[in-house]
Amino acid sequence: MQNTYRILVGISGGIAAYKIPQLIRLLKKQGAQVKVVLTPNASGLVGEKALQTICGHPVFTDNASFYDMDHIRLSQWADVFLISPATANTIAKIAHGIADNLLTSLALSISESKIMIAPAMNSEMWEKKATNHNLQILKDRGYHILPVANGELACGVCGPGRMLEPQEITDHVFRYMASSSILKGKSVLISSGPTEEPIDPVRVITNKSSGKMGAALARAALYLGAKVTVVSGPASEPLPSAATVVKVQTAQQMNTALKEHFENSDICIMAAAVSDYRPLCFSETKIVREEKQKFTLALIPNPDILANLALNKGKRFLVGFSLESDGSEERAIAKMNRKGCDMIIFNRADQALGLDSTRVVILGCDGFREEVPTIDKNAAAGIILERIAQRCVSR
Ligand code: CTP
Repeated sequence: MQNTYRILVGISGGIAAYKIPQLIRLLKKQGAQVKVVLTPNASGLVGEKALQTICGHPVFTDNASFYDMDHIRLSQWADVFLISPATANTIAKIAHGIADNLLTSLALSISESKIMIAPAMNSEMWEKKATNHNLQILKDRGYHILPVANGELACGVCGPGRMLEPQEITDHVFRYMASSSILKGKSVLISSGPTEEPIDPVRVITNKSSGKMGAALARAALYLGAKVTVVSGPASEPLPSAATVVKVQTAQQMNTALKEHFENSDICIMAAAVSDYRPLCFSETKIVREEKQKFTLALIPNPDILANLALNKGKRFLVGFSLESDGSEERAIAKMNRKGCDMIIFNRADQALGLDSTRVVILGCDGFREEVPTIDKNAAAGIILERIAQRCVSR
């Protein structure tokens, strides 16, 4: 079972409305059901048909259906009402109980604690006392107000007031909804990305890991309410801002950082693609090319981080990844047993490495097996985290 949260997205008339199809896509990728309500001012800024196609439901507007008790049915349906973008005008109306369109009527009929507001406006409006006062009223009443970003605004000015990016809003929504959920109070440690083993000042031994799976796992763990630490090798994939991030370069540095954080963790997931070997000697100066000579690089093995962590596992739940170039699940099971972990995620290099999607088989040391067909890495991470959480809780 994935996150089957029902999210009602309310779009008011800010230019940032054009980003909402992308936001809906991200919410749905996490398994949420999404319905949309548009204010009359937003209708001209984002296409109703596009929204309807992406969310898979009719879009609710003030036309006719407004009088058909939609606000009551929708308010009963929604686990959360996310108003994004929320203009200064809509914020003011909600703060003062004005219900002059479907969106503001919904705001009045849904419990304050279920309403999240992602403001978007120009800096002048954002800094006005009236706006501050209205936001304070909403905060005091238990509405959840998301921050705004600083940056270039539609009016050409730079400053505060920009709506958060869709990914950041998604992170806020799931984290907020997870605050009472299954991994609350648990610490999850995740290793992510490749490692780099320097040969000389300009060359390294590395691999094609993008860090996408590690970032997706971090997000999924945050969504389930966990406190998350990521030890990441050099990868460009952005990690969620709510996670504590420790950056490392080499396998040895990763080993040290993980050992340190392992002590205070309940769950550890080794998603990093650790370099198995490193050069025996590091050349302080750039190695010069010799036209007619063979060049041999001596390598020595790096520590097996996962196997070492397993030696002091205690009650922790330890998960490995097994990236294989062929289809052998037996190799993955043998690896799990050899390294002493509770679960291993089997995937194939050609179906996962550097891609946005993956196909995994979740294997438990107790014989558990679940095949997850090719899906987006965020969705796969959600399923993996739920399986881990279920097994941790039932131990
Ligand atoms: N791993 C590790 N330390 C290493 C190598 C791998 O902790 N030096 C971890 C990986 O993060 C992964 C698991 O061990 O969770 C399996 O990694 P994988 O590369 O599939 O297996 P290897 O142990 O490297 O064995 P092989 O390369 O022979 O398949």
